[in-house]
Amino acid sequence: GAPVDVDIGKIEPGQMLRVAWRGKPVWVVRRTSQMLAGLPKNDPKLRDPRSLQSVQPPDCRNESRAIKPEYLVVVGICTHLGCSPTYRPELAPPDLGPDWRGGWLCPCHGSLYDLAARVYKDVPAPLNMEVPPHHYVSEAKIMIG
Ligand code: FES
Repeated sequence: GAPVDVDIGKIEPGQMLRVAWRGKPVWVVRRTSQMLAGLPKNDPKLRDPRSLQSVQPPDCRNESRAIKPEYLVVVGICTHLGCSPTYRPELAPPDLGPDWRGGWLCPCHGSLYDLAARVYKDVPAPLNMEVPPHHYVSEAKIMIG
């Protein structure tokens, strides 16, 4: 599959842009400073908080799983059986409990991911969602692939 150029300059803070790459959904989320500040607090509840077993480029193996923390780029496929998780950026929707800091909920079997697409413990999905190879072409444009 060919690389895909994505203009990220118009994504509003907190919003998620959906694109396609090699027939897969790829999401770009512009994270706010509040979203980023919550990431380290999730670590004790996550299965692979340091992404040691999960798939991402070397320059994305960090707390935010990103080249620039503001922008998360992730393949939007649940690592359990391949459903597409639902973006739930709200800080504390009552149905997800008081400790929820936003992320994704998989509608198929309830796997939860945080705002770095890192999977929580005690859910069916084994790994964090995959971060695809990508790089910055300019301040406002990335190339995926
Ligand atoms: Fe996502 Fe099963 S496919 S929890």
